[in-house]
Amino acid sequence: MISATRWQTEAAAAKHLQQMAFLAAKLISTATASSCLCIFLIFFSLSSLTRSSTEGEPTPTPWPHQFHAILFMNYSGILQKIDLWYDWPNGRNFNIIQHQLGKLLYDLEWNNGTTFFYTLDFNKECSSAQLEVGILRPNWLDGATYLGQKHVDGFLCNVWQKVDFVWYYEDVVTKRPVHWVFYTGREAHVMTFEVGAALEDAEWQVPAYCFDKNTNADELAIADGVLRGSMALSM
Ligand SMILES: *[C@@H]1O[C@H](CO)[C@@H](O)[C@H](O)[C@H]1NC(C)=O
Ligand SMILES: *[C@@H]1O[C@H](CO)[C@@H](O)[C@H](O)[C@H]1NC(C)=O
Repeated sequence: MISATRWQTEAAAAKHLQQMAFLAAKLISTATASSCLCIFLIFFSLSSLTRSSTEGEPTPTPWPHQFHAILFMNYSGILQKIDLWYDWPNGRNFNIIQHQLGKLLYDLEWNNGTTFFYTLDFNKECSSAQLEVGILRPNWLDGATYLGQKHVDGFLCNVWQKVDFVWYYEDVVTKRPVHWVFYTGREAHVMTFEVGAALEDAEWQVPAYCFDKNTNADELAIADGVLRGSMALSM
């Protein structure tokens, strides 16, 4: 029982690390299976050492099975707005990433590990990735270390840290997420959080040109946007 839960928790967090490893490798044009695997394994061995929980401490509220959130992201002054549609029952997750005065990028992740990154403009850019783990589980914050309370964005929050990967801030009163920060410094500010909101099926259609073998010329340009985008799930 315990080991199954631990596996699930770690797999969820590991997904992000794996995504980052994958995309970082892609960015520097040296993507190899071995480099991803190596980082993944290092992460795994570290994470099993850092697990502890103390009785009486608050625990993060699990994510609702369906929600829509608008996030403002800041990564070293690069700003994005992300529409996040989390849809656990249907095994899918969407990040619709608006770069400030720039590209609108769609990052659609399926629970079977298939992920598509595309634009819907005349450039018809699309690339895909096959990850070994699916979308974040609603309880992906289980086992996080409680760090106490802090004011952030004007809200009093409980703060947790998940295996040196993400710092997560949740409103003490409403239990809604307010803010999270990845170890890279990329930060998300939660602007809206609509529990139960679901995007209709038609909006989850990947454009036909994603299945056209000739449209991957801009793969690197897309990967650049996604490196920042995928980390939003982020978690
Ligand atoms: C974005 O983050 C940087 C620090 O990385 C900060 O100096 C800047 O003020 C932030 N911008 C906004 C709009 O929050
Ligand atoms: C994963 O699921 C999506 C949506 O159902 C599908 O389009 C895709 O082909 C699947 N990928 C694999 C590897 O089965």
